[in-house]
Amino acid sequence: MHTPSLAFESHPSARPDPATPRVLVVSYQSVQRRTLIRVAERAAAEVAAFAEPREALVWAARNRPDLVVADLELPDIPGDTFMRRCRRLPGCENSTLLALVDQGDAASARRAALAGAADVAGKPLDSNELENRIGLLLRLNRQERIIERQARWLEHGFANAVTENMAREKETLMRLARAGEYRDEFTGAHIMRIGRYSRLVAESLGQPAAWCDVIESAAPMHDIGKIGVPDALLLKNGPFSTRERELMQEHAIIGFNILKDSPSQYLQMGAEIALAHHEKFDGSGYPHKLRGKDIPLSARIVAVADVFDALVSVRPYKQAWPLERALEWLIDHSGSHFDPDCVDAFLGHVANGAIPADPASAAQPSRVAIAHVSAAIAPGSSAR
Ligand SMILES: [Fe+2]
Repeated sequence: MHTPSLAFESHPSARPDPATPRVLVVSYQSVQRRTLIRVAERAAAEVAAFAEPREALVWAARNRPDLVVADLELPDIPGDTFMRRCRRLPGCENSTLLALVDQGDAASARRAALAGAADVAGKPLDSNELENRIGLLLRLNRQERIIERQARWLEHGFANAVTENMAREKETLMRLARAGEYRDEFTGAHIMRIGRYSRLVAESLGQPAAWCDVIESAAPMHDIGKIGVPDALLLKNGPFSTRERELMQEHAIIGFNILKDSPSQYLQMGAEIALAHHEKFDGSGYPHKLRGKDIPLSARIVAVADVFDALVSVRPYKQAWPLERALEWLIDHSGSHFDPDCVDAFLGHVANGAIPADPASAAQPSRVAIAHVSAAIAPGSSAR
């Protein structure tokens, strides 16, 4: 049955008050339709009513009703099909549905419920009961929208808080790492490069993005243990005695003790790097003479990044090694000092330009870092 639509349509831009709820009425019975309009208006709602369900769908797509009151007996489209199609419309997913079924028609009531109806009103309609139901459903719809908005706000706020806390934690760690370098180098450039190189190598090795993010912030803390090394030793330019070398090597243990036992993933990785970044792949490093893959991957990566940066950097009493010489060193010691996989990944990034080989761009290295790394790689010398 085709019944002309009742001409009461509204447009969002013409809505007098955005808080005014919108009700869509769909019924092919003109008397019933007028009753529904009157009742909905008493509930302070803006109402649009249609006899033709397809026209109602077009209106719903444009106006996103808060409540849809639909007779289950409609022309052309079954009422439950109409309700399902209505709820699939963008912006109508949360429209509340009220179905009109014949009094005592349990099967229709069940069809309506399966189609998503929040409530069912029996025909013939009782105006007072209908007004109560429409008022209640509009209040429920409004409360649901409020809860959804609050949930979105909380979710957004929580995500922002997590991001902000992570940024603060990273900044704090970087400043901690800079404090460790401050006696010989206060720009933080060396430790920043070690973090960046380590991330690049980790990415090439296929580590998860989150892991790569952690190593970038953890690697700069590799020498934090130098805080516990006396100035006379830390700033010494000449060769170390056996005892001095032992004391210098303690920076690995000291760094581990500073960073260990933290719930922070950055500090946890920082601790393992601090402890193991002077271990060597062949087991000749310190402090525990770990061998091969027994050395944490994070420390194997940092070892390559740390030594390379020291080699190609300038300092008052040391010329920067040419790139070729530094790369030869890495290659020659791949498998002995360094993990071959880490060396290969590192060389790949030198080749593609991601890791700069220009000493000028690698300015301001850590003087002490270079000193102890240089000692570590000097032929015939054990690591400081
Ligand atoms: Fe070190």
